[in-house]
Amino acid sequence: MSGETVFEKSRPGRQTRYISPRAELPASYREVPEDLLRAAPPSLPELTEAEVVRHYTNLARMNWGVDVGFYPLGSCTMKYNPRLAEQIASWPEFSAAHPLRPARAAQGWLRALYETERMLSELCGMARFTLQPSAGAQGELCGMLMVRKYHRDRGDSRNIVIVPDSAHGTNPATCSLAGFQVKVCPSGPDGLVDISALKEMLDDQVAGIMLTNPNTLGLFEREIQTICDLVHEAGGLAYYDGANFNALVGRFRPGDMGFDVVHLNLHKTFGTPHGGGGPGSGPVGVVEKLEPFLPTPLVRKGAEGFEYDYDRPHSIGRLHAFGGNALVVLRAYVYLRLLGSEGLREVSGSAVLAANYLKHRLEKAYQPSHAGRCMHEFVLSAAPQKKKRGVRALDIGKRLIDLGFHPPTVYFPLTVPEALMIEPTETENLETLDAFVEAMLQIAREAEENPDLLHEAPRHTPVGRLDEVRAAKELDIRRRPNKEDE
Ligand SMILES: Cc1ncc(COP(=O)(O)O)c(C=O)c1O
Repeated sequence: MSGETVFEKSRPGRQTRYISPRAELPASYREVPEDLLRAAPPSLPELTEAEVVRHYTNLARMNWGVDVGFYPLGSCTMKYNPRLAEQIASWPEFSAAHPLRPARAAQGWLRALYETERMLSELCGMARFTLQPSAGAQGELCGMLMVRKYHRDRGDSRNIVIVPDSAHGTNPATCSLAGFQVKVCPSGPDGLVDISALKEMLDDQVAGIMLTNPNTLGLFEREIQTICDLVHEAGGLAYYDGANFNALVGRFRPGDMGFDVVHLNLHKTFGTPHGGGGPGSGPVGVVEKLEPFLPTPLVRKGAEGFEYDYDRPHSIGRLHAFGGNALVVLRAYVYLRLLGSEGLREVSGSAVLAANYLKHRLEKAYQPSHAGRCMHEFVLSAAPQKKKRGVRALDIGKRLIDLGFHPPTVYFPLTVPEALMIEPTETENLETLDAFVEAMLQIAREAEENPDLLHEAPRHTPVGRLDEVRAAKELDIRRRPNKEDE
């Protein structure tokens, strides 16, 4: 495929005869007053329909996604998501329903939202959930704003939140955004929260703790009950970052351990893929004492059916219009109903088994961050390869692309040098896991025998090494074909 853009492929006057854009314009468009019309037509590319279809089909084929192959991107739970949920979410009864319809004309939608909330509450041991936040990070903000309001409404000015160094990066950012001061709690040599350090940090200024569990090393916080108890004794609240719930769903309820707030990433565990620029959903669950602070509206069951509840005087307000990214919530509803409680237990069991299988097979060739069992993901370090042959985690990730796999997450968590964070998920078969192991073992041999091969990877892609820092920091994806369009 040529690397030309549609603008470069464009030829003046080229078009498909049977398409007449003017005739397709709805009447309302033709009624735009003359003085509001642009002086010159936009310089759109001119191509035939076939050229357009081929251009975009070929571009789509260059994409890597969960529907194409293995995607072991740690901390992202890139698993296969059932088509049935997609199909139901595309039904016009759901996708074309106007959000301002009166509740009596939206009973099906409201029921789906209400029942999803009930199921998530049951799975997490929480009193209620809001479905509004549109990502995990926004869920965190929602949760921490409620923590803040809880303390302030009691006349308490506590302002410190403890965040372990093994937390997801969004946790400290969220605390700052919610107006708290962050204090980082170190991990012990086992990768878990250092309880004696935590004890020393607790005082009457601590508003709470934000705990990612399993943490970013893929480890379950064994002292989780003690952590919760200690924070509560100091008058703080305990926040559970449940974005990694794929490891625990159906087996563990944060509420049973004493957590006060929890967020989930529906776009990881419950039927929608993470990333890719699509919408997400980060519902937040709370225990009874925080219920009044939930964003408004909630859906409740009234005498005449389901209805929106706006009468919430202590609410932190709104985070999103209507029911949040409701089609993502609907996918989660279908997913939960499809799997049931037994199916969900199998999800977490298989996700953890797959990760332990990979870890066990790879830890002779790569240094694991921690010995022993992991949860749904694990972290390897390429530090020995870097020291011996100058091969970095980045080189290993790039070489995997040549061998037909999406790279794992690299350089995260920050506590592990040359980190490679691998999350296989439950939806891969044994053959795929074995093929990935073979590729990783081949790369380990190549690192010894021919490190330059890895430094130059990927070799079989349309483009090789990109300036990723510049791409991230100077994002400019707008093409300006003509001066007048600038
Ligand atoms: C543990 C954890 N917390 C929070 C987040 C943030 O979620 P989002 O990317 O939807 O904002 C993620 C993202 O994957 C995560 O893994």
